[in-house]
Amino acid sequence: MTSVAAVLDTPAQQAPALEARHLTKHFPVRAGGLVARGALVHAVEDISLILPRSGITAVVGESGSGKSTLARMLARLITPTSGSIFLDGAEVRARARRGYARAVQMVLQDPFSSLNPVHNIGYHLARPLKVHGLDGSRSMDEAIAGLLDRVSLSPAGQFTGKFPHELSGGQRQRVAIARALAVRPRILLADEPVSMLDVSIRLGILNLLAGLRENDGLTILYVTHDIASARYLADVIAVMYAGQLIESGPAARVTDEPAHPYTQLLLSAAPDPDRTQPPSLLGRGAPPNLISPPGGCRFHPRCPHAMAVCAAERPPAITVAPGHEGACWLHARDLTAAQSLPLKTTDVSTGADTGPGPGPNPGRVPDTEPGTGSREEKS
Ligand SMILES: Nc1ncnc2c1ncn2[C@@H]1O[C@H](COP(=O)(O)OP(=O)(O)OP(=O)(O)O)[C@@H](O)[C@H]1O
Ligand code: SF4
Ligand SMILES: [Mg+2]
Repeated sequence: MTSVAAVLDTPAQQAPALEARHLTKHFPVRAGGLVARGALVHAVEDISLILPRSGITAVVGESGSGKSTLARMLARLITPTSGSIFLDGAEVRARARRGYARAVQMVLQDPFSSLNPVHNIGYHLARPLKVHGLDGSRSMDEAIAGLLDRVSLSPAGQFTGKFPHELSGGQRQRVAIARALAVRPRILLADEPVSMLDVSIRLGILNLLAGLRENDGLTILYVTHDIASARYLADVIAVMYAGQLIESGPAARVTDEPAHPYTQLLLSAAPDPDRTQPPSLLGRGAPPNLISPPGGCRFHPRCPHAMAVCAAERPPAITVAPGHEGACWLHARDLTAAQSLPLKTTDVSTGADTGPGPGPNPGRVPDTEPGTGSREEKS
């Protein structure tokens, strides 16, 4: 699935800021400190993704779907099993680590664990400035004050001498973002940057990220399990399920007209104060074991629309609207009657037989409630 660039009208001749092609990561399974021979965790499987220049792309999925593994490969903190990464259109070679780290920085979920408790904020910001070099026109103090100002921590003097435990969660995350900005990156990979923060301060961090894109032209990957916040912040949403990319497209379209039943599941689980009906797909089991994931569509044991073909063949990415793709056989036009036969599925959570799906290929995914939050709310 690589059509996300089209969403932002990236000119064909302008290479995306960052691109993943067929990235795969298999981890060896360890038991009691030993590697279990032949057993692999299929954490990320054949993902192609484009981060358009100065765009915000959200990667959404539930816990264990492979979001962090994908982000860590893009940050080159771990080596892909296969696949390649392109920065500004050029394939990234194994050796160019320092130059890559300048261009691509990662912000982690838990700023407490990424900031050393024995060092103050001034130290945390001075270090990357020293390692990667100041721009020469400013003193260290000015550069640190400038960084803190960019993340709305001012006056700087109030923060530089403080230690991480003396700051609030939101302030710590702002410091973590400032530290990432110290090397003047063009791409920020933010892995669940608000999930450990109080709901009341999440919006401030999301707006900070939006401002960095707006004012500084940063390209941002926003990793989250919360599809409502993805809709709020991102231009494009890419949905992951069990290590695979199953839907991508403009944020409003993916949340208003999801092409994949799993995206519907995520939306039905998103907080929605206006909901009067209970979520329709909840209770349909848990994600699969990634050591031996199901064949065909990995969602088929949980899918109420599963057909014979779903258990047999992995669905290709099918374009359902300009820039919007869903990897689901429901959108295929040329299935045979045998392929379209409803598959008897078992509700994994209860063990109860849920009976056949809705019948031969209904050709479309039923309507669902849209996620909460909207781009218009951004301020
Ligand atoms: N170093 C590792 N060794 C073995 N398995 C791993 C390793 N890192 C991740 N995994 C496995 O890979 C799968 C994907 O993990 P990952 O952390 O990428 O998911 P995630 O979508 O980020 O989840 P969460 O929302 O909980 O952060 C999981 O099954 C996880 O247990
Ligand atoms: S209809 Fe088939 S391909 Fe589509 S999500 Fe369900 S199981 Fe997967
Ligand atoms: Mg994660």
